[in-house]
Amino acid sequence: MSNDISDLKISGIGRVTINRLIDAGYSLKFLAVASPSIVSKTTGVPVEKVRLIAAEARKLLGLEGEDFITAKKYMEIRKNIEKISTGCKALDNLLLGGVETEAITEFIGEFGAGKTQICHQLAVMVQLSKDEGGLDGRAVYIDSEGTFRPERIVQIANAKGLNHEEVLENIIYARVYNTDHQMFLIRKIFDFIDENIKLVIVDSLISNFRSEYPGRENLATRQQLLNAHVHDLLKLSMYNIAVVVTNQVVSSPDVFFGNPLKPAGGNVVAHGCTYRIWLKKGKENKRIAKIIDSPYMSESEIIFAITEDGVVDV
Ligand code: GTP
Ligand code: MG
Repeated sequence: MSNDISDLKISGIGRVTINRLIDAGYSLKFLAVASPSIVSKTTGVPVEKVRLIAAEARKLLGLEGEDFITAKKYMEIRKNIEKISTGCKALDNLLLGGVETEAITEFIGEFGAGKTQICHQLAVMVQLSKDEGGLDGRAVYIDSEGTFRPERIVQIANAKGLNHEEVLENIIYARVYNTDHQMFLIRKIFDFIDENIKLVIVDSLISNFRSEYPGRENLATRQQLLNAHVHDLLKLSMYNIAVVVTNQVVSSPDVFFGNPLKPAGGNVVAHGCTYRIWLKKGKENKRIAKIIDSPYMSESEIIFAITEDGVVDV
């Protein structure tokens, strides 16, 4: 996968600068929408130079256009949003159809709640035709906990009568080792969006951030990095991609009434994610799901199950 910024020719911008951006994993598509100050901070390239390059990138990609559009045109643009069925009717109903492109959907829950299982299932579902609830697309699976199992993909694919060899070919996998690597990998995805990528999964979003930046003394740095990461994911989603992340729950000692558990990551994650779904364990293989923090979606709960076939209706 070649890097498209290596061909940029801008007066005053030399080879060294371009190479620094390439080494940090930046591509034309990403630079076009990235925040110049964050790019500058992570690469050491002066912010004015990053601005020049970003402007050129937008021109080349045809993204330079009207800043203001009518609401009518915006409605047209929003029609591009598509949904991927979860393969479970109850969950689809909760999500008003499935996980959306141009949005981040977050699955939150304690260990064993079913977050990783939903991710596996979505990586298969996205490959189905539009009539069957998919997007005829491919998935990227960013695995920060080492819990991705191709064998499980085979099981789910077989349960749906699909050719599992093909299904495995359409999932692009990366194991993450630390937060820098995780952020780097997301930037790299901009290089190959065109290979029909419709779904990007990050399982889990913040486990590395929590272990690398523990305690109150590291909180500010951690949240700053996490903020940049969530924004990278949002920008990725704007290329008509559904982004799905998982998140852990932590106990908050300051809660006296109600639920002492809350999603990790604080406001940065809460504001960055478009849809938040809280998963809880029920009896045996039953799981309960509920939308949280949504001003316009129902707070009702639904039940699903995890079986050999994947995530299913009860
Ligand atoms: P953490 O990553 O530990 O926070 O949990 P998680 O929310 O990702 O949980 P996960 O999705 O891994 O769910 C685990 C549950 O799925 C377990 O209770 C397993 O019983 C069930 N499960 C996982 N794989 C299979 C499988 O192949 N067959 C069946 N029947 N159940 C499975
Ligand atoms: Mg998991």
